Amino acid sequence: MDRIRITGGRTLHGTIPISGAKNATLPLMIASLLTEETLILDNVPRLADVGLLQRILGNHGVDVMVGGKRPGESAYDGQTLHISAARIIDTTAPYELVSRMRASFWVIAPLVARMGEAKVSLPGGCAIGTRPVDLLIMALERLGAEIEIDGGYVMARARNGLKGGEIVFPRVTVGGTHTAIMAAALAQGTTVIENAAHEPEIKDVADCLNRMGARIGGAGTSRIVIEGVSKLGGARHRVIPDRIETGTYAMAVAMTGGDVLLENGRADLLQAGLDVIAQAGAEISATNAGIRVTRNGAGIAPVEVVTAPFPGFPTDLQAQLMALMTRARGTSRITETIFENRFMHVQELVRLGAHIQLDGERATIEGVRRLQGAPVMATDLRASVSLVIAALAAEGETMVNRVYHLDRGFERLEDKLAACGAAIERISG
Ligand code: EPZ
Repeated sequence: MDRIRITGGRTLHGTIPISGAKNATLPLMIASLLTEETLILDNVPRLADVGLLQRILGNHGVDVMVGGKRPGESAYDGQTLHISAARIIDTTAPYELVSRMRASFWVIAPLVARMGEAKVSLPGGCAIGTRPVDLLIMALERLGAEIEIDGGYVMARARNGLKGGEIVFPRVTVGGTHTAIMAAALAQGTTVIENAAHEPEIKDVADCLNRMGARIGGAGTSRIVIEGVSKLGGARHRVIPDRIETGTYAMAVAMTGGDVLLENGRADLLQAGLDVIAQAGAEISATNAGIRVTRNGAGIAPVEVVTAPFPGFPTDLQAQLMALMTRARGTSRITETIFENRFMHVQELVRLGAHIQLDGERATIEGVRRLQGAPVMATDLRASVSLVIAALAAEGETMVNRVYHLDRGFERLEDKLAACGAAIERISG
């Protein structure tokens, strides 16, 4: 298993190209199941999760072609996928595949909407929380799907097609909103979604579906109205930049000091995160080229943060912020409200010399003057990158184990950081 070795203590200088958003790419690829025509996605990141989803879609008969480089494109440009679900040969998503990536459960929506049936494995457990799918199932039932759960599988049927209806989410759910939008796009009549998630990735999917001929209004707000259509066409769509990758590298610069341009990063997708990083002492300036982050000399200031759905502070940046706060001049408090078990990184950060107390959903971090390198274990995608951020500022060498977690969501992380002066390398096997 690959590991990453980091020797800390260097400041970061240069440019980091931000990749396309993982959490927009996955639902966009799944949305291809809604049409017989080809969906072309540009700026797709090269991630393990994208590769796995290609396999999962292939299982349903989807043909995915990776577009070659176009003249003038650099190695850093995302890939272009040509996705064709002309013929769906199987409406079952097996446990072996779904259990490896929860978001693949979302295929249930386009399959039942287009084919009138779907049999999808329940995703199973997850390191960061129980993560049930009851609200996704509720949304499909509100659109007239008959649901049966048996042997760890969800069977959804709508022989005469889905019917528009009202969906009121009792809590904000990104997956639930994606599922409801995709299903309602081909339903007969009007669907109204209340208390919808309005993450930028939701808006990106809705924009793409509207290019395919859907009639979705209000995406990006908590009330979405969808006029169902009988058929969707093909389209070409560019994936938005990854706001979580942007925030992660901004935290790394705030941690080590330095001056870095996050190329293609968009401040409007991450304002709450950037406000907190500025509060911690980094200078943030949005330019046409991206977001510039600098921290010179001034120490790291403590902050108080509560994670929340967009536009609040994203839970997917919570672990990275905790790493930054381990070296703040004072006491910070971070409250995690989205997932009930998203503090797996705490004991690993303590191994590097951090002082962190946990009390239910709240973590109290006493900043320390120095961290000390040590072997640490990655447990999930965001927890693993928080260990990288801490290691960049720790004295001596840190070895991060199980970096396959990182590869799920960060494209060529060690190359991007090394290009800015970090002493970081991957040790294969
Ligand atoms: C998406 O997960 C993201 N994943 C997550 O990113 C992100 O942390 C999360 O949204 C919140 O922003 C992708 O986009 C692929 P939710 P999702 O439904 O859709 C509960 C990463 O690191 N809930 O908004 O699964 C749920 O348990 C990943 O890239 C129910 O109770 O999140 C959680 O506590 C991790 N019943 C809360 O709602 C349901 O049916 C929010 O979950 C659905 C959700």
